[in-house]
Amino acid sequence: MPDVYRYPINDKLIKFIELSIENGINKFILFGIPKYKDDIASSAMDSNGVIQRSTKIIKETFGDKVLVITDECTDEYTSHGHCGIVRVNGSSYKVDNDESIKLHAKIALSQAKAGADVIAPSSMMDGVVGEIRRTLDENGYEDIPIMAYSSKYASSFYGPFRDAAYSKPAFGDRRGYQMDPRNKEEALREVYLDIEEGADIVMVKPAHTYLDVISEVKRNFPSYTLAAYHVSGEYSMIKAASINGWIDEKRSVLEVTTSIFRAGADIVITYYANKIMQWLKEGD
Ligand code: PBG
Repeated sequence: MPDVYRYPINDKLIKFIELSIENGINKFILFGIPKYKDDIASSAMDSNGVIQRSTKIIKETFGDKVLVITDECTDEYTSHGHCGIVRVNGSSYKVDNDESIKLHAKIALSQAKAGADVIAPSSMMDGVVGEIRRTLDENGYEDIPIMAYSSKYASSFYGPFRDAAYSKPAFGDRRGYQMDPRNKEEALREVYLDIEEGADIVMVKPAHTYLDVISEVKRNFPSYTLAAYHVSGEYSMIKAASINGWIDEKRSVLEVTTSIFRAGADIVITYYANKIMQWLKEGD
């Protein structure tokens, strides 16, 4: 995506964070592109893995000046690109939910050990939030909050991210665990379950195409912090149209982001974060 980069763990990453802090951005969510992939996402829980190393370095360099959130999933780390353990049987396959959530808890624990401030499970496996909460608590990380990707739709707007992270499923799709875009009520059920399991922050993803879901979640769970994720395809649409001179980038980004907040989000995760801060300083 134009103006969005993958950073190696070196001074480029540190420089990016320094510049972001100068802009007024001090919260980061990390996604990793590992050195190797296998069936069971070993590189996701490697204490020397890309997320563990970068978390350590960022926290050592910036301490409490930054908040590091680690995305917790397996799709970038598995050879098949799914968000859990897959059992293949001839030409069919099945994601093993209960084995997967144990794996997710191990990954979450390794991220907590590396110094993550917040863990963000994004697999949409049933029971994953509860399993992670129990594992963190048992290991002395009861103060680490969980930001749950509670209501994550099986969306076409994740395309650019999957290209960048090489995480497109090798077979099948994610409709078995992500939500059907036609279903709003399920979003409320998923949020409710995640809260019951111990989520501190809940999320709706994507954002721009699901403003009604954001507003419904906020209305039903007003005392919970709600995040909304403006995803890669949503970013790319605005970017492409503005590069073509069809829309004004600054105005449309500020309008869309305002709409996400207006719908009820307390936190917006966006690839435009730095740009937005610069634009806000510029004024009209
Ligand atoms: C899954 C994951 C996805 C994204 C980040 N992590 C969704 C998916 O591939 O199903 C997409 C984020 C984006 O599009 O910006 N763990």
